[in-house]
Amino acid sequence: MGKSSKDKRDAYYRLAKEQGWRARSAFKLLQLDEEFNLFENVTRVVDLCAAPGSWSQVLSRVLIKGEKFGKSAWQDKEAKLRQQMFNVFGSDPDLGSVQPTEHGQDVAPVREETNASKPRGDVKIVSIDLQPISPLPGIITLRADITHPATVPLLLKALDPDYDSSTMNQQASHPVDLVISDGAPDVTGLHDLDIYVQSQLLFAALNLALCVLKPGGKFVAKIFRGRNVDLLYAQLKIFFEKVYVAKPRSSRASSVEAFIVCINFQPPAGFQASLEEPLGVGSRLPEMLQANQASLPIMAPGGPMQNWDTGAWNSWPEKAPNVVAADGIYDLEVQDLTTDDTKDIRWVAPFVACGDLSAFDSDASYKLPDDHVSLDPVQPPTAPPYKRAIELRRANGGAYKKTTGQG
Ligand SMILES: C[S@@+](CC[C@H](N)C(=O)[O-])C[C@H]1O[C@@H](n2cnc3c(N)ncnc32)[C@H](O)[C@@H]1O
Repeated sequence: MGKSSKDKRDAYYRLAKEQGWRARSAFKLLQLDEEFNLFENVTRVVDLCAAPGSWSQVLSRVLIKGEKFGKSAWQDKEAKLRQQMFNVFGSDPDLGSVQPTEHGQDVAPVREETNASKPRGDVKIVSIDLQPISPLPGIITLRADITHPATVPLLLKALDPDYDSSTMNQQASHPVDLVISDGAPDVTGLHDLDIYVQSQLLFAALNLALCVLKPGGKFVAKIFRGRNVDLLYAQLKIFFEKVYVAKPRSSRASSVEAFIVCINFQPPAGFQASLEEPLGVGSRLPEMLQANQASLPIMAPGGPMQNWDTGAWNSWPEKAPNVVAADGIYDLEVQDLTTDDTKDIRWVAPFVACGDLSAFDSDASYKLPDDHVSLDPVQPPTAPPYKRAIELRRANGGAYKKTTGQG
């Protein structure tokens, strides 16, 4: 597909080039942040599977340069406008009201400048990928495999130069506020295999996160929604107070990709991160899962339901009717798909679609103006895995052997 045709079919690919992002993935992180305030009070971050580096660019621009995007940029503009009006018309008690967001986090009074509007002090960002990442100002980049145990001391050393690897300690002495992972294997097209490899990347990312996250920290990672994804949610609930599955608008609806957003890291008592033991809990995992499931809401008619934001319990109606609310939104009856075997262990993470509805639809094609000039990508891949294949094909005379005159 040519650049121009791709511009038409993929609005986020075009926008990324226009706005200077190395990849369209930048919009996924921005839309996740818009919904979950990911960067609030955050100064230390680890970005896993980061090449070519658009998520790291977002971190650099938000945390180091103090830039704002999307809703928070709009709120900032509004705040400035209100401030100007305030200066002209004098005091208005309504202007400083707090606006709660859907997930219970309060946005600071719009009249005040929030910390996020300024570059933050003591920012530390470490980005890791198998592929080289072209340098980004203020960001430490490492070329490493996140599934390899040797990457843990490498990361700990990057986070804290005083770290002594001979101690074999696998816990960061200066932990981080946020770990993000956009890891994806080279997709083979064999669905189950791709989902399996993706899940291995996710567990490696989670293991690293458990080594470096501070209590209260957040973890965001790409998942492919496969058959046994519920088990993963339940496992994550052992470590985090809130676990959501989010689908940003810039992620194609047609793809199985989604992101888990885990808020408020609460390591279980006695927990010690270690790569030698799965999820750092070793043989205690089944026991911890069981204990945790006992406290999770069960998705079954007649049972209780929990409000994820307030923590309050409501009883599940005997038969939930399909209701059309005044705003035209349908409340659909949820069909119980649990069997006797799974009944007590199913837990469904709340699914959150994020990104403004007026934002571009990543599955739609858009007509471009006649004078549209297609830009080159900001950062072509430095060492893509397919590079060798292209070189070999060229050496063999190209796809149709045109260059050697053979065939
Ligand atoms: C979708 S890209 C990440 C895009 C990136 N978030 C950005 O915004 O530019 C997925 C990345 O995962 C990396 N990756 C896959 N397996 C990995 C592994 N085992 N260790 C480190 N990185 C890995 C790939 O090299 C690739 O760069």
